[in-house]
Amino acid sequence: MQPQIEHYQRREQSYIKHVFLNKYLESAAYKLLQPRRGAPVFNFVDAFAGPWRVSDRNDFSDASFSQALETLETVRRQLTKMGRAGLRIRYRFCERNPESFVRLRQFAAERQEFDIQVFQGSFEDNIDEIGAACGGGFTFTFIDPTGWNIESEKVFSFLRNLNGEFLFNFMAEDINRHAGWEGVSESIGRFLADPAWKQEFLDLPDDWSNERKILHLLKKKMKEAGVATYLPEMDILRPRDHRVKMRLLLGTHHVLGVEVFRTVQKKVETEAVSTRQSIAVEESGQPFLFPNSQLIGIEAKRAGVGCPTHIERATEMLRRIVSQTPGIEFEKLTGMVMELVPVRTTDLNKIAVALRRAGRLEFDLPPRKRTPLPATRIFPA
Ligand SMILES: C[S@@+](CC[C@H](N)C(=O)[O-])C[C@H]1O[C@@H](n2cnc3c(N)ncnc32)[C@H](O)[C@@H]1O
Repeated sequence: MQPQIEHYQRREQSYIKHVFLNKYLESAAYKLLQPRRGAPVFNFVDAFAGPWRVSDRNDFSDASFSQALETLETVRRQLTKMGRAGLRIRYRFCERNPESFVRLRQFAAERQEFDIQVFQGSFEDNIDEIGAACGGGFTFTFIDPTGWNIESEKVFSFLRNLNGEFLFNFMAEDINRHAGWEGVSESIGRFLADPAWKQEFLDLPDDWSNERKILHLLKKKMKEAGVATYLPEMDILRPRDHRVKMRLLLGTHHVLGVEVFRTVQKKVETEAVSTRQSIAVEESGQPFLFPNSQLIGIEAKRAGVGCPTHIERATEMLRRIVSQTPGIEFEKLTGMVMELVPVRTTDLNKIAVALRRAGRLEFDLPPRKRTPLPATRIFPA
């Protein structure tokens, strides 16, 4: 289901978050449930489910759990029509707030035709039960807390033990404001799964913001804990003042996940520009100078996925990695670059071919192919 912007007055950043979640889920489910991939079970875990600050109090159409259900059921129906029989989608929702939990349970009770289980209490305290209820198949976990009050050690153990991916909402603005304050030292330690985090934090460059330092440490901990190989991120601005509110991180072990992430990011960036423009028109009462499509084009060239600045960074990074790791397989190389720079495989194909033509890289192209294959080995010239 695509979220409806009218339900998100003055919290449009949540609209963008939901657009991202649904587009990613849709693409991931189509890819994973296709016949040749052979995973007939898809588990969706909404670990911090809500409902939270919803305006559609009847159907919860502005809540992540309800949207995910519609999105994934649409994919299942489509694939079933195309002959893919026996697909199963399981929904596992967890909520700590007692009142929200009651509403969540009611939502599930009214939808007996779906395989929904609702868990009461903190996600961290329900990890074993939720894990057991997700046995087999691919598990996508959405971790969407209101701040940083999470026991990451337990969350990491859940993520590590499952075959799947996760989307983690890093609450950048709140963390930035509070992370330097001694009073939150213990809770940040739990968030980073490292009670002794402070020294490492202080050793990071002074010109980094608090949230950048914490994000850096969190990603490092996630990788050390083995929950993800790649952690691409996208920031979500508050459309009314253009400040970073949150950052969505995907945790995946697969280059394909990173590729899907960047493709979805490109679409969501377009939606974010349109949302900002609608708000500007609404607030000023003046029609905008540029048509929407023109503005989207301008923004995409300035800062979007695959914009000239990112292409330049990706080119430099690609060359550096190849010179440090001669013979690296192209797929691994694309994963490493795309994780850190918002570009897609199609951009990296073009970069690799241009560098080869310019005599900077060497690799074999298979007959009748214009771009490297995933297993093609890339060397510096
Ligand atoms: C930001 S809201 C989630 C919004 C929802 N994912 C959405 O996008 O519609 C966070 C929710 O997590 C709940 N919560 C907070 N800490 C939790 C925990 N440790 N385990 C489970 N739920 C928690 C809160 O009560 C709140 O409803």
